[in-house]
Amino acid sequence: MNILIINGPNLNMLGIRNPSIYGEESLEEINEWIKKIIDKKKHVLKFFQTNYEGKIIDTLQDEISWYDGVIINPGALTHYSLSIRDTIECISKPVIEVHLSNIFDREPFRKVSVISEVCQGTIAGMGKIGYVRAIEKLELS
Ligand code: DQA
Repeated sequence: MNILIINGPNLNMLGIRNPSIYGEESLEEINEWIKKIIDKKKHVLKFFQTNYEGKIIDTLQDEISWYDGVIINPGALTHYSLSIRDTIECISKPVIEVHLSNIFDREPFRKVSVISEVCQGTIAGMGKIGYVRAIEKLELS
């Protein structure tokens, strides 16, 4: 499978940003770890991080003929981006939502995800393991 892994705003700050919540590893370290863990014969991964909502939408649209599935951690956009929700809704490929932290056990505004309804699944609170679990879910979809 060709899998696109998108991380949204401030996830480029992992390692520096609230390590007690998000861990001490940088996004690059997490991505390298994911690459080592997955079965390279089965999957090709493309990683994309941006701090801009529109770039997430452009990437979901522009790469549509390349990917078989998407894993997305939209950061805070999770809680209010109806534009990303609409994009996910109109692409006919499976999309899994991942959060490093348990958004359901944090501030009230984080408990709401506007994208969950249009995703095939949501994984939260498992740290970097969530991305690997999401790959397994796509594999079995
Ligand atoms: C996050 C949770 C969001 O609420 C937050 O804004 C993030 C990271 C997570 O991975 O736990 O940027 O998506």
